[in-house]
Amino acid sequence: MSKFREMESIASAPLESARSLPFASYVDPDIYTLERAQIFHKDWIFVCAEQELKDVGSYYAFKLADEPVVIVRGKDSQLHAMSNVCRHRGTILCEEGMGISTRFVCPYHGWTYDTKGVLIGIPHQGSADIDKAEHCLPQFRVDTWEGLVFVTLSNDAPSLSKKLAGIEPYLRKYQSERFQISVPNGEEEWSTNWKLAMENAMESYHLFRVHTETLEAVTPTREAFYIEGGRDWTLTGGKIINARSKVWDFFAPKESAVFENYLLISIPPSFVGIITYDSWNWISVLPISPQKCSVRNAGLYESKPASDKETMDFVQAFFAEDKAICERVQSGMHATHSQGGRLVELERVVVDFHHYLASMLFEHT
Ligand code: FES
Ligand SMILES: [Fe+2]
Repeated sequence: MSKFREMESIASAPLESARSLPFASYVDPDIYTLERAQIFHKDWIFVCAEQELKDVGSYYAFKLADEPVVIVRGKDSQLHAMSNVCRHRGTILCEEGMGISTRFVCPYHGWTYDTKGVLIGIPHQGSADIDKAEHCLPQFRVDTWEGLVFVTLSNDAPSLSKKLAGIEPYLRKYQSERFQISVPNGEEEWSTNWKLAMENAMESYHLFRVHTETLEAVTPTREAFYIEGGRDWTLTGGKIINARSKVWDFFAPKESAVFENYLLISIPPSFVGIITYDSWNWISVLPISPQKCSVRNAGLYESKPASDKETMDFVQAFFAEDKAICERVQSGMHATHSQGGRLVELERVVVDFHHYLASMLFEHT
């Protein structure tokens, strides 16, 4: 069986017979190339919080699986997503990360674009006959959902609201519109395939073992449960114990069923968010190469979150635990004399993710 057919067959299996993906699918360059084309360059991809791009000219530049993209709040107050590559000789226009500017001047020869990607200036043009309208930056579709910005490089992807239909009633209970204070991104490079980082972020099976002193003490594995899901998204949840929230006592008596739980929202290929009464945090994972990915985290809050040493240490500690275990798994993925085993009920969200992979990668081949 070809490596593609083997991955398809395992990724399509129902929960009752679900297994880990073939190890080769976490290292293989051909599978990575297929994922880049069929997933990252076709589906809606999470970018950042809308709140982070609220001022005119604020932008976020990043590589969407090798494709340089910039999202900017235009002078028309709309979000515009476009290629971050100069139309002259291909220089990256904006440095990766957040910034603010209402003109994008190429660092090479100074060709200049506005916030809609329109070429507005060519220094030292001389007698060259250059049609500016023919040299604008290619535009991509951008949309928002629940305060989050998504982009797709595809003209054919079904709408974002269609992909995410059905999640909203669950979110409503948390009144997420309260969360208006954004906390800046942290970004790390992990030596692991992007799928491993995503599978790890979405399942709560590993908490008791990997996060014994950190997350397990607050959101234990034994209290985690599956809510609803499928190929487009999955909701899981769990009980928060030892909650330190100041509003806890006030709300707990009448709303305990909602607020003593966290809700974990997994939106493949790249977003896993966790919402509690106090916060809306997420990580996003983007591939860099078959065995490297970038992992970003950020969040929205109703009031400025605690940044005391204890809280910061807690967050840093469990991130470090996740990075270490994912990189350790990655080094097992080179094995040719072993293979992945059965998944357990607590990994049902991973099975949904595998179904997403199967449908995106293989449905039309
Ligand atoms: S490459 Fe951008 S101005 Fe020359
Ligand atoms: Fe973890």
